[in-house]
Amino acid sequence: MKLLAHILCLCLALALAYSHHDHGSAVIDRCEGLEMDAVAVNEEGKPYFFHGDHLFKGFHGLVELSNESFSELDDHHHLGHVDAAFRMHYEDSQADHDHMFFFLDTKVFSYYKHKLEDGFPKDISEVFPGIPDHLDAAVECPKPECDEDSVIFFKGDDIYHYNVRTKAVDEKEFQSMPNCTSAFRFMEHYYCFHGHKFSKFDPKTGEVHGRYPKEARDYFMRCSKFGEDADHGERERCSRVHLDAVTSDGAGNIYAFRGHHFIRKDGASDVLKGDTIESAFKELHSEVDAVFSYQDHLYMIKDDEVFVYKVGEPHTHLEGYPKPVKEELGIEGPIDAAFVCEDHHIAHIIKGNHIFDVDMSATPHTASNEREIAVLHKIDAAMCGPGGVKAIVGNHYYHFESPLLMIASKALPDQHKVSLELFGCDH
Ligand SMILES: *[C@@H]1O[C@H](CO)[C@@H](O)[C@H](O)[C@H]1NC(C)=O
Ligand SMILES: *[C@@H]1O[C@H](CO)[C@@H](O)[C@H](O)[C@H]1NC(C)=O
Repeated sequence: MKLLAHILCLCLALALAYSHHDHGSAVIDRCEGLEMDAVAVNEEGKPYFFHGDHLFKGFHGLVELSNESFSELDDHHHLGHVDAAFRMHYEDSQADHDHMFFFLDTKVFSYYKHKLEDGFPKDISEVFPGIPDHLDAAVECPKPECDEDSVIFFKGDDIYHYNVRTKAVDEKEFQSMPNCTSAFRFMEHYYCFHGHKFSKFDPKTGEVHGRYPKEARDYFMRCSKFGEDADHGERERCSRVHLDAVTSDGAGNIYAFRGHHFIRKDGASDVLKGDTIESAFKELHSEVDAVFSYQDHLYMIKDDEVFVYKVGEPHTHLEGYPKPVKEELGIEGPIDAAFVCEDHHIAHIIKGNHIFDVDMSATPHTASNEREIAVLHKIDAAMCGPGGVKAIVGNHYYHFESPLLMIASKALPDQHKVSLELFGCDH
């Protein structure tokens, strides 16, 4: 029944999309939780998401028909939709460096700057011998991320590593990974999409580290009501997507992290700026789990690792990091939230509804004093400042005058809105 309703909705959306097409305002909404058939970045690194006959360019904006950008896909109507796509990206293979490859049923199309290469489409078996037809997903994997410049193909739970130079095919088993409906290399990381979720994986082994799957709409789509012109700061200020991590430093500046972006709110002027995590914390890249500030450093925890940045313009990543969470903090990752209160040496580490103390002034660091937080089962992010602790859960935060009061509390205090009260979004 649910599936039927879903199909009906989709048909309605498609019908609307077509009827509105003349006005250029199609109605297929990626924020409804669409499953993508194929994902690849174009020559400029902009992601293209394919769904049926449709194409979404970038992380936000309206849907287009794929034949508007790639008209030849239409000349082969019997082929159906794009099954898989990738961008060839190997400095060594000059001939097709940066070409986009699309797979439809038994055929492969090679495009460069939206122009179909001579002789294409060709049979998949001709261009990629040993690779089956009717693929589910494909992703490029250059050296050294894979041992050799490769393309990884996915069909059901079969995985093929295709060596671009020798054309050798190596069949792999990616045991911990779900069947991918599309796969994507973005900023040197590998993502497998399944339904509207995704998992980040190791391209060599297929291992998935950390807490996956995650919701694609939280990370790869801008599902707020803000248009293309909104800047990072405006979008992030008002986003209703939960924060991954938040902290305030000694000067009262707030840093809040969400997906690939972060917000910095200046303590003195309240001016808020948004940017990509990559731009300021390159090593960390994205999707941090927890952050705390201690003595002019940001301790940023992601999966099983701790990254430490000295606060400054620019922030500098300390040599020797990242280090394992276990080694640096004496506790196993992943961690949900962490904070240090003013002038103290205790890092409070939250995992699920348990909280631990790590004395940052003692070596080696060990986690002790485990206690349960009765009123909150799960905390996305937390920070501590002159007024006490703010524990953030989804769109809301709760304020406690001290960590002790948070732990001892028997009832939840008033709910505050993150967008409105923390970042001053006016709606
Ligand atoms: C693209 O496909 C739509 C629907 O099938 C069709 O109406 C339109 O004419 C096509 N556009 C181009 C540029 O081929
Ligand atoms: C994954 O694909 C295989 C076919 O290769 C199939 O047997 C299996 O049921 C699929 N798993 C899921 C969870 O869909």
